[in-house]
Parts: sequence; structure tokens; C-alpha cells
Amino acid sequence: MPAAVTSRKLMEMKKSGEKIVALTAYDYPFAKMADEAGIHLLLVGDSLAMVVQGEATTLGVTMDQMIYHTAITAKAAKTAMVVGDMPFLSYQVSTQEALKNAGRFLKESGATAVKLEGGAAVSDTIRAMTEVGIPVLAHIGLTPQSVHQMGGFRVQRDRDRLMEDARQVENAGAFAVVLEGIPTDISKEITDNINIPTIGIGAGAACDGQILVLHDMLGISSGHVPKFVKKYAELRQHAMEGIRTYIEEVQNSTFPDENHSY
Ligand code: KIV
Repeated sequence: MPAAVTSRKLMEMKKSGEKIVALTAYDYPFAKMADEAGIHLLLVGDSLAMVVQGEATTLGVTMDQMIYHTAITAKAAKTAMVVGDMPFLSYQVSTQEALKNAGRFLKESGATAVKLEGGAAVSDTIRAMTEVGIPVLAHIGLTPQSVHQMGGFRVQRDRDRLMEDARQVENAGAFAVVLEGIPTDISKEITDNINIPTIGIGAGAACDGQILVLHDMLGISSGHVPKFVKKYAELRQHAMEGIRTYIEEVQNSTFPDENHSY
């Protein structure tokens, strides 16, 4: 079995040019599949609110819910690094609360790192976490917890601000940074000018790695998915076919047959 992925390993991958491949996960069976397939990093994203809980934004998910889903994900991960996503207001109110909540992910869920959204504005929080030994994955650009402030899920184009955010999270000790909803040329400039790995989502091909929301890339999500999502499977369609066939067979008495009876 390959060694578990660590922040040090991700740094080595950036240096050697090996792409980092990450996915979100929220539960044991999907985490097990992704881990066995060779995914390097599993993020238990607060996108849980939207893809699992059916909410319109990520804002409502709680610390307890994130800890529960991170724990059932981490149980399945033998090699992938598991990162717990800090939900809205779990790290913005005070540094003390941020440390306590970040610590819960490591103590209670089996995650080995946390992610939080924001650049320069949260750099002191990132520094406080890394100083007590909590590895932090930063997240800049389109930060969904600020959806109302951004006026929707919008691509972020302020080159100077994005570069400054990337520099500040690196200086604060983040081991990597998610770049979300950023034009390719800006992501490339960031990737070329910082020493920590960049993991892109809707940020083009120049990043050191990529992450997608599992339910979007497997075709489980219904309704609109963003332009940057490529569907690698159509699981919703397959599941619907299976469920419809089951209904039909029970109703016409072809299930259960002898093979499925005692
Ligand atoms: O919550 C999430 O799934 C995320 C990824 C989209 C990076 O933050």
C-alpha cells in the first residue's frame, strides 16, 4: 500500500511537477472508492450543505455536521490526505474559537488538516493554527461563504488582490491553496510565484493540482453545474434507471424471483 499523503508529499509533488488530484467526499462508500482509485486529497467540503443537504448555499452547515461527515470519510481513507472544511463562522469570530474548532477536526474526525476560506483577511488565523501544529489548506478567489458579499458565485478577476492573498496565506504557513473561479492567466501567475501547491477548481490547467465536487463530476447532482465541471460519469441516470426497473418488477411480480428468495 502506498504511504499516506502528507503536506510534505504535496510540496514535493509541486517541485517535481506531478499533478495533485483531489476530490470532495462526504461519506464512507464514496471516500473508499476515491481512495482506492488513487486520489491524493479528499476534502470534506462545506459544499456538503449544497450537494448532500440540498441547501442553496454553504452557509448553514454546522461544526457538528462537518465533524460527523469528516469522521465517516476519514475511516475509508488509507492513503488520501483528509481535510476538514471549516464551516461559516467557525473561524471568523475569534482566533480562540477558530483554534478550538480547527482542533476538533484533528481530535475528533481523523482529518489531518483543515481548510478555510479567505486570503489576507484570515492570514493571522492561519498563522495561529499553523503555530500550534494544525496544517491549513487556504482557499482564495471565489469563496462560497462570501456569496452574498460577492453578489453570487462569480469569477474573481482582481489580479493584484488575488496575488496578495496568495502571498499572505503562504507567508502565514498554509501548506497549499485552493484557487477557485479565477481566470487561467492569473492562476498561472500565482502558481509560478508562490512555493506552496495551488489546487484549482474553475481556475484552469496551470495549477499544481485540481479538485472537483464529487457529486458534480460523477453526474449525481441534478440541475445546474458550473461551466468548469466535466462529468466523468452519469450516476444519477444509472441510479434512476435501476430504481425505475425495481418499481416495475415489484409491481409486475417479477421480483423477487426464485434466485432472490429462500
Ligand atoms: O466545499 C467545497 O467543496 C470546496 C471545494 C469546492 C474546494 O470548498
